[in-house]
Amino acid sequence: MDRHFSEVAGAYNALRTTDIEPILLIRDTLGRRGSVRGIDVACGGGRYSQLLLEHVPGLALTLHDQNDAMLSEATRYLAEHGIEDVPTVEGDIADLEFPDAAFDAVFTFNAIHHFDPSMFLAKAARALSGDGRVFIYTRLREQNARSVWGQLFPSFAEREDRLYELAEVESWDGGSGSLGKPEIVQFEFQRRATLSELIHQARSRHYSTFSLYSPAELEQALAEFERAVRERFPDVDAIEWTDENVMIVYGSAAR
Ligand SMILES: C[S@@+](CC[C@H](N)C(=O)[O-])C[C@H]1O[C@@H](n2cnc3c(N)ncnc32)[C@H](O)[C@@H]1O
Repeated sequence: MDRHFSEVAGAYNALRTTDIEPILLIRDTLGRRGSVRGIDVACGGGRYSQLLLEHVPGLALTLHDQNDAMLSEATRYLAEHGIEDVPTVEGDIADLEFPDAAFDAVFTFNAIHHFDPSMFLAKAARALSGDGRVFIYTRLREQNARSVWGQLFPSFAEREDRLYELAEVESWDGGSGSLGKPEIVQFEFQRRATLSELIHQARSRHYSTFSLYSPAELEQALAEFERAVRERFPDVDAIEWTDENVMIVYGSAAR
């Protein structure tokens, strides 16, 4: 999977759809603090890091990822947006130890399914200051199954077995209980794309799920996907569907 992220690093931000709503929720949850020390765990190409820095007042952000191509891309992407000198930490989150109470906010976007959530929450709990918050943005397994990919791309929902169900998220023991129960906020986004845009995204493996297919399997699945889309949507230049995500917030009720 690390090889997949090295291969897509340069194109990743452009291939994925980036939404502002989760960032506004973070801004509103953190409220008017004079300063916020945050870390974007598994920041990838930095598309959400950039939005965080733009919208969260007083944020001093550290970028983290295990993939050096992604971290370089994130640094380049922030510089392109006029943001320089952002510290970076490279390494598998499982191997890193952050100093106690080093952060007021720990963020992770679209990555919790790449590592063990209990390990992540335990590390986040230790790294957080007294009134700190953890923000985990992801899509649930059932949300993934309802997306255009889950419905029409052959075996997409079944192959993507790394995502969590809502009941699993609710059972996570936030940092051995010290983070309390999470607040879970649901998001819905109305999407519209052309068939050729969707095929381009899949062929470019914008979701790492597509790397779970061999090249031959991917081509065969794409042909079936195209047939299914043509059958479902009379106008393949205006394919519409709903994407769903959740933000899981720890620390909001318990602290
Ligand atoms: C799907 S991308 C999401 C990137 C970014 N947060 C975003 O939403 O655009 C997942 C990222 O997690 C990183 N990653 C996966 N496993 C990791 C681990 N164990 N420790 C640190 N980073 C990891 C990958 O290198 C990749 O950049």
